Amino acid sequence: MSILFEPLYIRNLKLRNRTVVSPMCQYTAVDGVMNNWHHCHLTAFGRGGFGLVIFEATAVESIGRITHGCTGLWNDEQLNSMIPIVKSVKDSGAATCLQLAHAGRKASCQRPWEGDAALTEAEFSKGELAWDIVGPSPIPFEEGWLIPHELTVSEIKEIIDSWVLAAKRAELAGFDALEIHSAHGYLSHSFLSPISNKRTDIYGGSRENRMRFTLDLAEAVRAVWPEGKPLFIRLSTVDGKEGGWDIDDSIALTRILSDIGVDVIDCSSGAIAAAGKNTLPTPTPGYQVSFSSEIRNKAQILTQAVGLITDPSQAETILRSGQADLVALAREALYNPFWPLHAAQALNADIDFQIWPHQYGHWLELRSQGVFAKRPGEIEE
Ligand SMILES: Cc1cc2nc3c(=O)[nH]c(=O)nc-3n(C[C@H](O)[C@H](O)[C@H](O)COP(=O)(O)O)c2cc1C
Repeated sequence: MSILFEPLYIRNLKLRNRTVVSPMCQYTAVDGVMNNWHHCHLTAFGRGGFGLVIFEATAVESIGRITHGCTGLWNDEQLNSMIPIVKSVKDSGAATCLQLAHAGRKASCQRPWEGDAALTEAEFSKGELAWDIVGPSPIPFEEGWLIPHELTVSEIKEIIDSWVLAAKRAELAGFDALEIHSAHGYLSHSFLSPISNKRTDIYGGSRENRMRFTLDLAEAVRAVWPEGKPLFIRLSTVDGKEGGWDIDDSIALTRILSDIGVDVIDCSSGAIAAAGKNTLPTPTPGYQVSFSSEIRNKAQILTQAVGLITDPSQAETILRSGQADLVALAREALYNPFWPLHAAQALNADIDFQIWPHQYGHWLELRSQGVFAKRPGEIEE
C-alpha cells in the first residue's frame, strides 16, 4: 500500500494524495492579473493527479512583485482573474493553495529569462520601469541591485495589513489553503536573517526580534484565514552562509508558528544572498529533505519536502521514513504534469487507470489491453 496515494487531512481539508505542485512564478501576468496561460498551466496539474496545487508567489502589494510579470492580489481585478482558475483546478479533483508573497529587497527585477537581475535600459525602453523597494535594512541583495528603503514600524504594520487584505481576497477566490512565502530572501525571510536584517529596534538584533515580523504576519493572517482551512509557511530553513539563519533557528521559529496555528512547514533553503561561498547542500536528488526531517521530528509539525524529488519510489520513501508528510515537485511537474498518475502506476496504487480523468482513463485502459473498443466487431488489435 502506497502512503503517497493515501489521503491526508489537514484541518477540514482532505487531500486526495500527498503530491504537491510547488509554487512556480510564471512571470506572465499583466498588472498582476492572471490569464489563460495560468489557467491551462495550473489546471494541467489537477488533471495530472496532484493532491494540492500551490499557485505561484502572488504579491500583496504592487511593490512586492519580483518582476512586472508577477501575479498580485491587491485589487478585485486580480481576484476576479483567479476565481475561474481556482474553480478549474478544484473541478479536476486537486485542492488549491495560494502562496502570498512580498519580494522586499529582491523586488523590481528582470524575469529569469531576461537576466534575473536588476532592471536595465532594455526593460525601461519597453516601459517596464524600476520601482522603489523596501526591506528591513538598506542593504542591497547584491552589488548593482537597488538599495531598499528601511521600513519604519508603521510601514511594517501597513505591509502586514496588505497581507491581511490579500488573505481575505484569497478566501473570496475559493482557495482551500494559504501559504506565506517566508523563504528565498524575500521580505519575511529578510527580516529573519541576520545577513539582511541589521535593525536595532524591536524587529532586529536578537533572534526573538528578527522573528517578530514573520510571527506578527503569521498571526495576522491566521486571524482572518478561516479556522477550517490550513495555513502553510515556506521557510528557507537554512541560509547556508556564515552568520546566517540556521536549522536551529527554523526549529525555534516553527515551534512558535505551530502555536499560532500554522499547520505545515514547507522546507526550502537558501537565496538570502547572491551565490558565492556557501554551505548549502549540492542540488542532488532530495537535497533539502534532511531539513524537512529535522523540523518535522524536532518541532512535531507537518512538513513538506521539496527539491529534486523526481522518482515515485524516492517520494514514497521520504514519506514512509517519516521525513515529510507531503512531497512537492516543481521542475519535474513542468516536465511531466501527469507525474502523480504515472507514479501511482509505478507504485501499484492504480492498476487500471481508475484514478485518471475518465475521459482519458477509459481509452488508456483499452489501449493497455491492446484494443480500441470493447464492443464485438469494433475491436482493432
Ligand atoms: C519556474 C519556477 C518558478 C518558481 N517560483 C517559485 C515561487 O513562486 N515561490 C517559491 O517559493 N518557489 C518558487 N520556485 C522554487 C520551487 O517551488 C522549488 O522549491 C524549487 O524549484 C526546487 O524544486 P524542484 O527541484 O522540484 O524544481 C520556482 C521554481 C521554478 C523552477
